[in-house]
Order: sequence, then structure tokens, then C-alpha cells
Amino acid sequence: MNGPVLNLRVAETDREEFRQAVLDGLSVTPRAIPAKFLYDERGSALFDEICELPEYYLTRTETAILKRHAADIGRRAGPGCALIEFGSGSSVKSRLLIEALPELALYAPIDISREHLDTTAARLRRDYPRLNVLPVCADFMKPVLPIESGGRRLGFFPGSTVGNLTPSEATVFLRHTRELLGDDGALVLGVDLKKDPQRLHDAYNDAAGVTAAFTLNLLRRLNRELHATFDLAAFAHEAFYDEAEGRIEIYFRSLKKQSVMVAGQRFDFAAGERVHTEYSYKYDTADLSALAASGGFRVAETWTDPERLFAVVYLESIA
Ligand code: AVI
Repeated sequence: MNGPVLNLRVAETDREEFRQAVLDGLSVTPRAIPAKFLYDERGSALFDEICELPEYYLTRTETAILKRHAADIGRRAGPGCALIEFGSGSSVKSRLLIEALPELALYAPIDISREHLDTTAARLRRDYPRLNVLPVCADFMKPVLPIESGGRRLGFFPGSTVGNLTPSEATVFLRHTRELLGDDGALVLGVDLKKDPQRLHDAYNDAAGVTAAFTLNLLRRLNRELHATFDLAAFAHEAFYDEAEGRIEIYFRSLKKQSVMVAGQRFDFAAGERVHTEYSYKYDTADLSALAASGGFRVAETWTDPERLFAVVYLESIA
């Protein structure tokens, strides 16, 4: 069942990039480690668990919107397009589009995890034998993506992953995407909306502690891959909503004064000192139009749920 995978990653450079990013991030003030490193095998499994939590409304709300409006998306995109998904994971939501897009010519899932891509592609080829599936193993934030296809290109970036980018990173991502999709292209984007801060707070501080385990799993990864000496019991997950910035901020916080070795270097932590791991930006319609325009798109249509928790927007390239 295995077909070709376009592999744009090299394991050795990935490990070196990780080491360098962590050492750099721990050497600056305030300290920060890029969010993409949260997703090792266990991190990805914990994130899948987060998506099922009662407090984490994002995944089920977006799925419901996509189910309700897949046919509308299919009508807008028209027949014979190529669907390109950024950060595809297990491609659960893309199936809704695959089934709704008339005469779909190609499905190209782009993901950083080779394992995820292999399983996902094999399942899709089994379930849609006539569909041309071209998995691309790459960091979708890096612009070089030699995907050959005829027809309109429809990008798909669900899950509020755009919220994990700062507004300027999101603009850079959209500009690259606009290039890849072309003048005739469109992008289906899933974004989490601004709402009652308590609801947002709860979504990132679940009662079962899965989000905390997800954050602290980064320390476990550092111990394993970079010979670090983090004591997981001496750090805590911290997440809160900053209303002025319109974003959830996530950190791990040192519970005491302590020193930790990472890749042969010593780092001292003051009691209460924290290391930033994630932003999760929340949008309203005005923010969304501005973001789209900054990347060379316009908002052609917005679909939301009855509580207006989440939005799926159809962006068209501005020629
Ligand atoms: C992947 N991303 C959209 C999630 C979010 O909601 O920002 C990541 C996450 N981190 C903690 N909980 C969920």
C-alpha cells in the first residue's frame, strides 16, 4: 500500500536544529522553546488526547462546521482542484473535504512527521483508490515545496494551527502559501475566535491535566534527546489568556531555584522563572480580514458555529 513520499527532511539536520534551537532559546531572556518541538511521538499522542477533552471545544466545533459546510467549500473550489494540507497529522478533517470536492485531482498532505504521513497515506490510498495522494515530509513553514499539479490549488490549514504563529509569522506563512497556491488559489483556514476568557482559560487548563502533561513532555524529550537533567516534578505547566494581546500564553515554570544540564551546558533557573513554549492567538472578524490581506488573500466566506466559538474561513488569492 505504500507509495512515494516526497521527503524534504534529513534526520541529522533535524536533531542539530533541535539542539541549536533549545540552546539558543534557553540562553536568551525571556527564555523560550519553539512550539513545534512539543510534537514528538508522545507529544502528538497527548495532543490527540487534548482534542477529545471536554474543555477543548476547538476540534469538535471545527469538525462540525466542516461537516455542515463541506459542500459549500466544494462548490466554491469547483471541480478538478488539488488539495494541499499544511500540518496534516492524521488527515481526519481532510476526509470531509476529499469527499466533498468534485473530481479532486490530487491530495498532498504536508507533515513534519514521517510516521504520521506513512500511515495516513496508506489509509487514504486504501479508502480512496482513485485519488492521487502525494505525501510531503516537510516543515510547512519552510517555503520550498515542489508540488506539481494542474487545476486550482486549494490549501487547507485547519485546527487553529495558525493561532500558534505570531501575527508576523502568520503573515509570512500566508505569503508563502499565496505563492504556492497561485493567482487562482484559495485557502480554507480554521481559526479559534475571541470569547469569554474563562472558557479559553479552561481549554488550556483541563481538569484531567492532559495539557500539563503535553507541556511537560517537552522536558522529557529534552532529557532523552539532548541528555538534559530536568526533574519533571520540579516544573509546572502554566497557561493563561492575555486579553490585550488576544492570545493564550503557555510556559513551563521552575518551582524552585535549580540548575539543569542540557546538551553539556548548565542553565540556572530562579524559583518561579518560566520558559515560554506556545502562543495560541484568538481572532475576531476584523483581525481575520487584516491577517488575510497581509498575506495577499481576501476573506470570501466565513462559516461559524451557533455559539461563535470557532470559524472556518475561505480565503481567495488577491490577483
Ligand atoms: C495545535 N494548536 C492549535 C493547539 C492550540 O490550541 O493552540 C495546541 C495546544 N496546546 C495546548 N493545547 C492545545
